[in-house]
Amino acid sequence: MRGLPVTDSRSPGGLADYSAWRARDYFETYYSEVVLPDEQAVLAYQLEVMGGADHRYGRALEYGCGPTLHRAIAASAYAFRIDMADWLADNLAFVREWLHAATEESDWNRFTSFILACEGAPDADRARVLRREAQTRKSVRGLYVSDARWHDPLGAERQGFYDLIVSGFCLDAVSSDRGVWRACMQNMLSMLAPGGTIVIHALHNCTAYKVGERMFPGAGVTVDAMAESLLENGMARASLDVQIIPCPANAVYGYSGILTASARKLAAP
Ligand SMILES: C[S@@+](CC[C@H](N)C(=O)[O-])C[C@H]1O[C@@H](n2cnc3c(N)ncnc32)[C@H](O)[C@@H]1O
Repeated sequence: MRGLPVTDSRSPGGLADYSAWRARDYFETYYSEVVLPDEQAVLAYQLEVMGGADHRYGRALEYGCGPTLHRAIAASAYAFRIDMADWLADNLAFVREWLHAATEESDWNRFTSFILACEGAPDADRARVLRREAQTRKSVRGLYVSDARWHDPLGAERQGFYDLIVSGFCLDAVSSDRGVWRACMQNMLSMLAPGGTIVIHALHNCTAYKVGERMFPGAGVTVDAMAESLLENGMARASLDVQIIPCPANAVYGYSGILTASARKLAAP
């Protein structure tokens, strides 16, 4: 997430739009080499929420996965089936490549080791890492191109469909317009079943974040805005948790905190 925006893909506000997105740039900035401390914190949070459920989730969705696998690898021990969606086919091509890879060696191995460590296996051997990844490959069913600005982002038949939705840094990155973010929240949360769980991460109070040579939009989401949006979309107040994870070292990328939240949708009356 670094550098100068290119002229042909800038919105009037000077931000790049997603026609300028390069999955490889994103991956290399945030996911090559190490599991960054802020990523460690949000992965641990996702695992804690999923691990706290008294049942395995039936249908899970990772919304706005980008070119990443770690949230799906985390979810695969807690959900029978996982669908993944993103607006950009280029991102899904990365995901597909991993799902069908001939080799088991990849950057995601280190995320899997971290996930297993969070689950109480700090010295998981290679076989165990590969087992978890094999489980993920089996669990992931659908890969869908989807626009969160659509009223039914995966079609009307997916309304109230998922028992678990995990979404990392997607909806707040669609636009710098807070109204667009609110609409995207409504659209995505309409796919959550009554009683279902949402785990969502956003860049805290960020209006632009860096990827490669470009700046992409941020909706400037705050704790209050996140809590309000979750409540107005039918999440149970008693289940609501919204936290800020400070990451001052990331100010150079356009944000110095991460918002992580979870909630359960009210059960059907
Ligand atoms: C910051 S990345 C997050 C990727 C990944 N979830 C992660 O945690 O690293 C933002 C993602 O939002 C996706 N995106 C942007 N606009 C979108 C839209 N209108 N609908 C759905 N996804 C969108 C982008 O393609 C990109 O993958």
